[in-house]
Amino acid sequence: MIKIKISAKGIDFIEDNIMNKKNIAKITLDIAMAILFITFFNKTLISFKFHVQSGKVFGLLILVHMILNRRWIVNITKRIFDSKIKIRTKLSYICSLILLISIVFIIFSGMMMMTATNYDRKMFYKMLHFGASYLSVGLIGIHVGLYWKFVMNMFKKLLKINKSTSITKILANLCVVTVLVFGIYTTYKQEYFNKLSNTLAYAITHIIPQDLEEPEGSAYEKESLSFISLATTYGSIISVFGIATYYIDLALKEKNKSKELKKEIIKELKRV
Ligand code: HEM
Repeated sequence: MIKIKISAKGIDFIEDNIMNKKNIAKITLDIAMAILFITFFNKTLISFKFHVQSGKVFGLLILVHMILNRRWIVNITKRIFDSKIKIRTKLSYICSLILLISIVFIIFSGMMMMTATNYDRKMFYKMLHFGASYLSVGLIGIHVGLYWKFVMNMFKKLLKINKSTSITKILANLCVVTVLVFGIYTTYKQEYFNKLSNTLAYAITHIIPQDLEEPEGSAYEKESLSFISLATTYGSIISVFGIATYYIDLALKEKNKSKELKKEIIKELKRV
């Protein structure tokens, strides 16, 4: 789309493309949030105080992310039951909503865990904190997967890549396969799905306070992962969800396209 700006200097034709200031702000904020999110998986990576304070800042950044995307949020909220809205958009909305609720639970349970006075409540909030954090890993992957095309188009413009050659295509596919294989291995090795289900199941079965005694010798030392280890571990798990979402979405779009084409052909044939 071309916008026309009339100024004292004359008429300017401004290309209102994907690389506008708002989109650059959005992508910069999203990258900052992704980096911050990964640091949370080692509470002493910088310091525990940093974990707590930056966790609260993360909540504020989510609000800024929502303000920047308010047009889409308001529009879909108003029309969520409208049959004209695509199923894909509705699923994307539901996924974003569950992610938002998870983040609220993470911050709330983090605060409650620090003020809880008995073992039962401390454990309940801790498992809720961990479970919602693991759930967010998967949801962030799905969220990124749904917007991957937009992200890629932005980077292509930024790096001035106009056409993809067969070499860049092969390299890109090789990258995807490598990240996917490593991600699946990490998801399995880290027992991601076990951790997710065990922590959430604990929280759900301990909503009502119980008279629990702290078992002896329950304190343990966890290895302290560096930022690079955290980024490769959690980045690759997020990528598995992202890649799976992107390709499922692509396959469904192709299926819909060929369905539409078939309909058009049948319509034309009937006319003839
Ligand atoms: C979106 C933001 C946050 C995420 C994703 C997150 C995630 C996590 C994760 C994965 C751990 C375990 C880390 C490890 O074992 O080294 C953890 C620990 C912890 N977090 Fe957070 N956190 C967030 C914000 C907060 C906030 C705002 C608070 C408090 C106000 C908080 C309080 C705690 C506490 C007390 C622990 C220690 C639990 C323990 O090991 O006993 N977190 N957090």
